[in-house]
Amino acid sequence: MEIVITPDPQAAAVVAADAIERLLLNNTEPVLGLATGSSPLPTYQELIARYRSGRITFANGRAFLLDEYVGLEVGHREAYRTFIQRELTDQVDLPANALFGPDGNTVELATAAERYEQLISDVGGIDLQLLGIGSDGHIGFNEPTSSLGSRTRLKTLTDATRTDNARFSDDDISAVPRHVLTQGIGTILEADHLILLASGASKARPIAQAVVGPLMAMMPASALHLHPHATVIIDEAAAEELSHSDYYREAFANKPAWQHI
Ligand code: GLP
Repeated sequence: MEIVITPDPQAAAVVAADAIERLLLNNTEPVLGLATGSSPLPTYQELIARYRSGRITFANGRAFLLDEYVGLEVGHREAYRTFIQRELTDQVDLPANALFGPDGNTVELATAAERYEQLISDVGGIDLQLLGIGSDGHIGFNEPTSSLGSRTRLKTLTDATRTDNARFSDDDISAVPRHVLTQGIGTILEADHLILLASGASKARPIAQAVVGPLMAMMPASALHLHPHATVIIDEAAAEELSHSDYYREAFANKPAWQHI
């Protein structure tokens, strides 16, 4: 696992956007995995700026959401599909029919989950998956005790996660759905490259536990240790509780020019 510590979230966004730019330039049919939440927003802003300046195109790409709330109607402001359209895909040239997400708006949720797994495998898998981390260490919506081999499925959110996410719904926890469909940890681990972004002091504890270990179901983000190419990009505040942080800084500052994240 590579740990990159940057002075601020904007600098983290440049590192993540560089990796995405390389994928878009070098792959004829790039497949991106997109995360919601505030952590990836600076990266999305950076990608939009690079698209507008003509540096990158998403025209041949496809994008897959990490997760989706159950029961929010199509176009609902807080639906993750709407979020990602608003924050990224409507502002770049990704074709409208190239954005995929689990269908949380059906009664056949188990079938929707299986269909989503099939869709991901039909395109040959995800090349680069962006991730955030919940304050309880969740990735996607895989709450603590999620199986490390889990696939896309229905999950019940913890009250802590619903409280965290209520800030997007005028602090009204009752407006945050209790159920979600999320890529499983096993699904996430099949992407070629994982980039986890985190910033701010509230992420310092889960980041330290995920990076240092132990690998455990109570800390879903620790599953990144099972992946051969996982990059954790964090700002100084999120690195606050990390041991070995000087080593990570030194390693990144002295990376050979040919070796990207
Ligand atoms: C939600 C999303 C996660 C995200 C997490 C952290 O629970 N399902 O994918 O990582 O929020 O969000 P934030 O980046 O806003 O802290």
